[in-house]
Amino acid sequence: MRKLAAGNWKMNGTLASLAEIDALLGADRDCEVLICPPATLIHPMVARIAGEAVAVGGQDCHAEAKGAHTGDLAAAQLADAGAEYVIVGHSERRTDHAEDDASVAAKARAAHQAGLTAIVCVGETEAQRDGGETLDVIARQLAGSIPDGATAGNTVVAYEPVWAIGTGRTPDNDQIAEVHGAIRGALTARFADGNDFRLLYGGSVKPGNAAEIFAIPNVNGALVGGASLKAADFAPIVAALDAA
Ligand code: PGA
Repeated sequence: MRKLAAGNWKMNGTLASLAEIDALLGADRDCEVLICPPATLIHPMVARIAGEAVAVGGQDCHAEAKGAHTGDLAAAQLADAGAEYVIVGHSERRTDHAEDDASVAAKARAAHQAGLTAIVCVGETEAQRDGGETLDVIARQLAGSIPDGATAGNTVVAYEPVWAIGTGRTPDNDQIAEVHGAIRGALTARFADGNDFRLLYGGSVKPGNAAEIFAIPNVNGALVGGASLKAADFAPIVAALDAA
């Protein structure tokens, strides 16, 4: 299994920000590196990377292949721009755009049809964790958001507790291990190659906590928001994963 360090730039960055990826190029490493910039930067980023071992992805796609959906992007359009991955079901999409599990699954299916690897995000809110519902919430999101036909080759699962995103707070290592173990169990119960899916942890991953998180069983990489924007933060996270 090739570990994955994925950066999610969210709605940050302009053409000038592309310089941040230069520090990630030219390295010989075992883990895979992915940046998901705003859609406007996908093609220029692919051009700047020019065949080096950093992949580029989208942050969302529409479930339909084309049509009258102003402002949306089809998975095939992301692929045409050079994307290899797309994040679906990020909690900010689930909240801001009222995306439910069924729509996330439809997006993941569209990603697969376009030849993209879907990074399907799941995660509990703070109220759900406090209410002891975490594992039930995760099980429900996994069952509803990952389409039949998912394989370890076309799907990555990201566990992102909503309360840990952008807050500087992270679950303790036992909590991450518990959820990642449950995700692994659900995947192996449903998919023949469930053991091979990469499971990313996301939510306030930083240079200072990356190595510790990457040592947790069933953590096969990270989905990094804020700390992916600057190479000075993201490069040490990538190095920690490569060393894990
Ligand atoms: P964060 O975001 O690293 O800024 O907490 C993670 C994410 O939303 O993917």
